[in-house]
Amino acid sequence: MQDTFKLGDRIVRRMGYGAMQLAGPGVFGPPKDRGAAIAVLRAAVDAGVNHIDTSDYYGPYVTNEIIREALHPYPDDLVIVTKVGGKRDEKGAWLPAQQPDELKRGVEDNLKRLALDVMEVVNLRIIGAVHAPSEGSIAQQVEAMVRLKEEGLLRHIGLSNVTAAQFAEARTMTEIVCVQNHYNLVHREDGDLVDSLARDGIAYVPFFPLGGFSPIQSGALSALAEKLGATPLQVALAWLLHRAPNTLLIPGTSSMAHLRENLAAAELKLSRETLAELDAIGTT
Ligand SMILES: NC(=O)c1ccc[n+]([C@@H]2O[C@H](COP(=O)([O-])OP(=O)(O)OC[C@H]3O[C@@H](n4cnc5c(N)ncnc54)[C@H](OP(=O)(O)O)[C@@H]3O)[C@@H](O)[C@H]2O)c1
Repeated sequence: MQDTFKLGDRIVRRMGYGAMQLAGPGVFGPPKDRGAAIAVLRAAVDAGVNHIDTSDYYGPYVTNEIIREALHPYPDDLVIVTKVGGKRDEKGAWLPAQQPDELKRGVEDNLKRLALDVMEVVNLRIIGAVHAPSEGSIAQQVEAMVRLKEEGLLRHIGLSNVTAAQFAEARTMTEIVCVQNHYNLVHREDGDLVDSLARDGIAYVPFFPLGGFSPIQSGALSALAEKLGATPLQVALAWLLHRAPNTLLIPGTSSMAHLRENLAAAELKLSRETLAELDAIGTT
């Protein structure tokens, strides 16, 4: 199994890190322990992580400020991927910010907070009336992203929370280097999209790889993990790595112990029989 994959024109390790959990409860406000958050980020990069996922609306601003404090000046091989398309109100509610001027401000805010001149990859995060993907043209937002690319604010465009049809539409307009959607062992609606992106050499970045705010729990998974001498969530991450060559993982944690466990999951080799048992868990 390859431990790296292409993201835009960079090669990154498939086990990356998602920074969302570094903000306070509900991804709003500061974390309880800022020093611990900085230590987790530095440990991730020291251990070889070179793909970090973030957004300026985490906190808001909090995770980007922590990333900058922990890691700037950034190592040459580090790819920080952000997303635009959302904003928060004063109580922390998630609101759409999909107008061209809002998308531009979103990219500029990320650049400023992260102290970067150009973003390597920016995901256009579709936020509509519902939180899950819903059909409808995204051409206006993609056009705005293309303009930001032409202006030199970003090098590559990704999409998040999109349907296969929206990906196909965007792809007729510009190069799309990654798709970041909700996908994990027990949430597999995107299976066909994962496979078609793999065929085209495009990265698929599952968000909530561990189940998100309520990490995956399954008796069958726990039993299997025990046999393998691993934790259930390590097995869930290893399943994603085995699922297709183009999955890039960004598990989120504010805990040093969990970070170590998650990174170690990249070493877990799953046999064909184990993979079949895991496939059955997701479909029951
Ligand atoms: N595009 C989007 O719309 C979108 C949406 C959601 C997330 N994301 C991105 O995806 C990344 C990952 O998602 P996520 O962080 O929400 O969810 P996740 O990675 O599926 O799970 C994170 C949760 O699992 C816990 N955890 C992590 N490692 C663990 C371990 N080894 N053992 C036990 N518990 C563990 C964390 O708590 P502890 O802190 O206690 O470890 C946290 O509660 C985010 O950081 C963000 O960058 C994107």
